[in-house]
Amino acid sequence: MAVAGQARIKFGTAVGQLKPPLSDGLMTQEAPSRGGAPFAQEDFMTQHPSLKSRDLSMTVLMTPDMVNFSGNVHGGAMLKLLDQVAYACAVRYSGRYAVTLAVEKVLFKQPVHVGELATFLARINHVGRTSMEVGIKVVTENPRDGQCRHVMSCFFYMISVDENRKPVELEAFTPETEADKERWAAALKRKETLSA
Ligand SMILES: CC(C)(COP(=O)(O)OP(=O)(O)OC[C@H]1O[C@@H](n2cnc3c(N)ncnc32)[C@H](O)[C@@H]1OP(=O)(O)O)[C@@H](O)C(=O)NCCC(=O)NCCS
Repeated sequence: MAVAGQARIKFGTAVGQLKPPLSDGLMTQEAPSRGGAPFAQEDFMTQHPSLKSRDLSMTVLMTPDMVNFSGNVHGGAMLKLLDQVAYACAVRYSGRYAVTLAVEKVLFKQPVHVGELATFLARINHVGRTSMEVGIKVVTENPRDGQCRHVMSCFFYMISVDENRKPVELEAFTPETEADKERWAAALKRKETLSA
């Protein structure tokens, strides 16, 4: 149904509607659904402050400006994106500003190609007094044939800080599932090695 003052946009077979901007200038959109209940981004934004998600994923198209001398995506471009993902994951989890203390075990398993979609899958593995370990796995997808590859992984140590850049205590987190307990233990071991 067309509504005066609202633009209509089409995503594949589903149709979404752009709503007028909110007072902060952000455009909201009733997200199109590929089946299941429609999801209003506006609701998500209202609920967001109470969501302490430990996971974050970000997908970026690998463009020709990211290329290195061999024609593949530059490692430095990937590191910059990893840093952004770690920052976003830590800040969203803690609800505070965070700084990078260290980056560990950066593994370039396979080259990343221009034209691929790189998805950065981040998770808070461990929460200390003021520190968070963010594990990130990068998976690429060739959008033409759907072929996926695990190309990178690494661990970021992020520290929650106040406005004076002094470390701030985080709410305690206790892992409950077996998988979370394993990640927690592995992260603790890594932190000990980092301190050495
Ligand atoms: C991050 C920073 C605020 C920490 O300051 P600090 O005086 O070491 O703070 P603390 O001693 O209170 O330690 C804070 C946390 O970092 C951890 N930490 C600090 N140094 C560590 C090390 N060498 N190994 C492992 N953990 C370490 C501590 O264990 C603590 O974690 P916990 O609270 O979960 O137990 C400070 O080092 C800093 O400002 N670094 C620069 C950050 C930056 O600019 N990053 C961008 C880089 S381009």
